Amino acid sequence: MEHRGSEFYDDALIFKKYLDRRSWTENANDTLEKPIILQLIGDVTGLEILDLGCGDASFGNELLDAGAVSYTGIEGSANMVEEAKKTMHRSKTEIIHTAIEDWDFPDSRFDMAISRLVLHYIEDVEAIFKKVYQSLVDGGSFIFSVEHPVMTSSYGLPREEGMKQDWIVDQYFHTGIRKQEWLGGTAVKYHRTIEDIYSALQHAGFNITRLRESKPDQANFQHNETYQRRMRIPLFLFFSAQKI
Ligand SMILES: C[S@@+](CC[C@H](N)C(=O)[O-])C[C@H]1O[C@@H](n2cnc3c(N)ncnc32)[C@H](O)[C@@H]1O
Repeated sequence: MEHRGSEFYDDALIFKKYLDRRSWTENANDTLEKPIILQLIGDVTGLEILDLGCGDASFGNELLDAGAVSYTGIEGSANMVEEAKKTMHRSKTEIIHTAIEDWDFPDSRFDMAISRLVLHYIEDVEAIFKKVYQSLVDGGSFIFSVEHPVMTSSYGLPREEGMKQDWIVDQYFHTGIRKQEWLGGTAVKYHRTIEDIYSALQHAGFNITRLRESKPDQANFQHNETYQRRMRIPLFLFFSAQKI
């Protein structure tokens, strides 16, 4: 069964598998994505934060614990919103159940916008970047991760069963829709080159301040074998940009 955007997470079986995978020790989110996001985000004391595709919003609790003054999570999946409501019991928190594309972004409201592993579900990222820009205060920052284009390029190509041994980067400059077989379903994602994302940020008005890839830090791994596997290919791409 094929799903677009957050619909993927509203399939009960897929959602269960997703939560299960996130609880694995040494999962890619916790060992690769989160450490770099935290480095890029830095000190959040006193900040009003917007999180696009916030999932279960558990990261919101961490940001508030770290000193953020408010957290607004936008999330399209009913299952995720239900999880978020179970975990979020803080004041100055709002979880809004809507597709990012449909949300009416407020003007000049947030000090920081973040989005973790969501924007590859969105067809027109430049339109979203423009809305994020408008919703930030002057000097506000936008920090996000996406699946790395070397990964998204070859989604949909035939692959072997089980743990991948080799990766193919193919059709790289043929950007657009990709259908990935994942967690027993078909997730519709969008492949873009690094240059496409960079240019879309610039067109939206942002000053790009950092670009990172998910180079692993051995300190985050218990098993050398997993670390060596993660040294082979980048899973995630990160940008940090500022409203000027
Ligand atoms: C891989 S999960 C990441 C969740 C969370 N950011 C995290 O890192 O734990 C992707 C999330 O993006 C949400 N999502 C995808 N497309 C969306 C859209 N167009 N509008 C709102 N949410 C969307 C999904 O429902 C899902 O919760």
